[in-house]
Amino acid sequence: MSKTRIFSVVGARPQFVKAAIVSQALEKYPDVEHCIVHTGQHYDQNMSDVFFQELGMPAPAFNLHIGGGGHGAMTGRQLEALEKLYLEEKPDVVVVYGDTNSTLAGALAAAKIHIPLAHVEAGLRSFNRMPEEINRVLTDHITDVHFSVTDVSTANLAREGITGDRVEQPGDVMYDCALQMAKVAEQKSKALETFGVEPGKFVLCTVHRAANTDDPKRLRVLMEGLDLLAEKLPVILPLHPRTRQHVDALGFKPKSANFKIVEPIGYIDIVRLERAAGVIVTDSGGVQREAFFHKVPCVTFRDETEWTELVDSGWNTLAPLEDPKAFAELCASRVGTRGDAREHYGNGDAGEKIAATLVKMPQMTFKR
Ligand code: UD1
Ligand code: UDP
Repeated sequence: MSKTRIFSVVGARPQFVKAAIVSQALEKYPDVEHCIVHTGQHYDQNMSDVFFQELGMPAPAFNLHIGGGGHGAMTGRQLEALEKLYLEEKPDVVVVYGDTNSTLAGALAAAKIHIPLAHVEAGLRSFNRMPEEINRVLTDHITDVHFSVTDVSTANLAREGITGDRVEQPGDVMYDCALQMAKVAEQKSKALETFGVEPGKFVLCTVHRAANTDDPKRLRVLMEGLDLLAEKLPVILPLHPRTRQHVDALGFKPKSANFKIVEPIGYIDIVRLERAAGVIVTDSGGVQREAFFHKVPCVTFRDETEWTELVDSGWNTLAPLEDPKAFAELCASRVGTRGDAREHYGNGDAGEKIAATLVKMPQMTFKR
């Protein structure tokens, strides 16, 4: 009997983390052939290869090398290439992750030719029309099996009529990964020494959302705010390539020697920094949750978040980007604070639960 072929379509940094956990769980099924399909959306060594190496994930079986360009060009080229690949390789199941252009292309190509489709991280909503929201709403409405993360994301799906046995809530694969890698990071990483920082006495920041990077006013408030904050506490800012382009265009140069703007950092080192930071300041969906997984307070400089339970429970604070001084003060005031003791993201076995359903999908029938 031939093996069940499961294709995981990934392309961007957070998707490598999520797929690594599903990949690991699928290894326990000898009758399954799991193939990673890399669209090529992220391609720099420290935005892509480093995750495969550090998370022990098999190299992509297929790499389409389609990155860069506008939304339409990127998604369209990926869609065309993925449809061709699916028709040639005949996967039994396609799995997509999160909410990037690679997610939408992977999902749309599969749905149109009726390949059973699963979405890991279904049901997240920001209730605006940011690019990721468009990708996730469209993906959820053509998906066969939805792996929701939280009670909130399950309720969002229900509100849109997506209910019943099409929805499972296994928890968050990123939580599984954080639990697994915490010890590895403590043992292997020298990031604190490299950056010359002490536990609890520095700020870790990441920024890459278009709403922040592409708006020079917001980006300037952020950079000036972090520069002021660095006068009190060292700030480490690994710059996403998108952000690097915009910071360079702004002509911003930090005044404080304690404001360390560096290249993107590998997963093991970022986990070490996350666990030791006094406060994490970010617009990343993944980093917001990782702050909570490692029990570090977080400030999110967005007007809304998909992860509302972290704001409600006091672990995360939404911050306006209007005034550098007010922003710096808010970030400093969160150091040492804690939220309540509730857990929201499952038991660290989301990957195993997802794998157990994926292997059954070829035998399932879907109402379409
Ligand atoms: C993408 C996702 C976003 C996700 C983020 C994770 C979409 C619409 N956005 O945003 O949801 O949170 O990834 O990091 O899919 N670049 C490089 N090297 C790389 C990757 C990107 O130089 O390895 C540069 C390119 O100039 C590219 C730009 O960054 O045009 C933006 O990359 P893109 O993948 O389009 O969007 P992200 O901002 O990374
Ligand atoms: N990350 C990393 N190095 C960095 C910044 C982030 O390894 O320099 C990791 C981070 O720990 C998380 C993932 O990348 O696991 C999140 O990706 P990103 O913030 O780019 O995307 P989002 O989660 O917002 O979609």
